[in-house]
Amino acid sequence: MDSKPNYGLYGLGTMGAALALNIAEKGYDLAVCNRTASVVDEFHASSGDLATRIVPTHDLAAFVSAMAAPRNIVLMVPAGDAVDKTMEQLRPFLDADDLIIDAGNANFGDTNRRGDAAQAAGEMFLGIGVSGGEEGARHGPSIMGGGNRVAWNRVSDMLEAIAADYEGTPCAACMGEGGSGHYVKMVHNGIEYADMQMIAEVYGIMRDGLAMTPLEISKVFSQWNEGRLQSYLIEISASVAEATDPETGKAMLDIITDSAGQKGTGRWTAIEALMRASPVTAIDAAVAARNLSSRRDERKAGEELFGAAPQAIDRGAVALEALEAALLAGKIACYAQGFAMLSTASDDYGWSLPLPDIAKVWRAGCIIRSSLLDDMAQALDDDAHRNLMFAPSFAQMMKDSHKGLRKVVAQAALAGHAAPALSAALSYFDAMRTARGTANMIQAQRDFFGAHGFERLDREGQGFHGPWGTG
Ligand code: 6PG
Repeated sequence: MDSKPNYGLYGLGTMGAALALNIAEKGYDLAVCNRTASVVDEFHASSGDLATRIVPTHDLAAFVSAMAAPRNIVLMVPAGDAVDKTMEQLRPFLDADDLIIDAGNANFGDTNRRGDAAQAAGEMFLGIGVSGGEEGARHGPSIMGGGNRVAWNRVSDMLEAIAADYEGTPCAACMGEGGSGHYVKMVHNGIEYADMQMIAEVYGIMRDGLAMTPLEISKVFSQWNEGRLQSYLIEISASVAEATDPETGKAMLDIITDSAGQKGTGRWTAIEALMRASPVTAIDAAVAARNLSSRRDERKAGEELFGAAPQAIDRGAVALEALEAALLAGKIACYAQGFAMLSTASDDYGWSLPLPDIAKVWRAGCIIRSSLLDDMAQALDDDAHRNLMFAPSFAQMMKDSHKGLRKVVAQAALAGHAAPALSAALSYFDAMRTARGTANMIQAQRDFFGAHGFERLDREGQGFHGPWGTG
């Protein structure tokens, strides 16, 4: 290395270490540092040929002085207080146009706050959502940036170089100002939760309803991965279903506790969607299902009290083709909800989110990557703010597949299989194609007990009241 690098990465956990190696591999020299200094040496020693591009440092002063100004510092520390603390500790060492890039899973509200504070202090700050797990971080994640455009332009070459590549297009884009990048990443994770939950529901129907073995289920997922459902999550579901525990010889799926963890990004999506009045019912259901999954003792007590819920389902009632169609229809409805939420947030926060570009950066690298995303990008290019289910190509897919979803949800209900995300997706689809809904009853009730007033179908104006005596 002839001169000091302009890049640095702080936080050499799993994701940070993978990202640092990715940056070095793409030809960018960088300084690295970590709260525990010994981790830096272990990381450097294990970085092989890339070690010559990496300057190991053991404290923040050495880290910053190992870089040449203007510095671009990627933070990969746990979201929350650790980001604020690290930024505070770095600040005394930084020059005016040094840039801090928070690449963790920050809450977009925190990123807004940090961006505003940086702007007020004349500092540069970007919040970028990085998806793809360790493998993605190492070899090409999907990158959703947000913040100051000047700052983005300064590092966009590097970010595009390390990002996943979709047929020659890098999966990295600036989504807009402030916390917009982390917002998009949050919605990505909400969709991830729903996608995973719907797959789990279909797995449950195959396991408990159709009495299929993990290996049989794996084969079905592999087969579906060749068709319209082709996606990373279906692919890994096939892999996990076929894996065997080396200690017991049992299928891995049969020894894993049925209680899902979560770090909170799905919950953030559900809460934020409620605040935006943008229905994301499949995501809500997926978050609630994870919460419910962790109540194992209560579920056991329920089974003892009422008897086990899931009963066998006749193959004639639910064929594998219906399950495949259910997943497709459920997935489209869920993405329609996610993109509608992004569209609403774009207006509410004045971000002008590039919806087609969001679908494009999700085409490779990220956890929800799938072949459908390229079609979604095209549909959003045609009309970014139309409900995705109404775009001609997706409308056709919904027409073809919603009967499968309906059959699966109906049979699941009859045979006692909980399928909350699939059911939510179906109800959303049905509600969105019902011109005459039932909220007239709610309006009448509101007027009855609170004189809230209603609109009439047969007259212009608002604030009409009923003859019930209180209006
Ligand atoms: C990604 C993922 C990642 C997320 C994990 C775990 O895009 O790479 O979304 O950011 O942190 O999937 O999330 P949960 O612990 O909440 O399931």
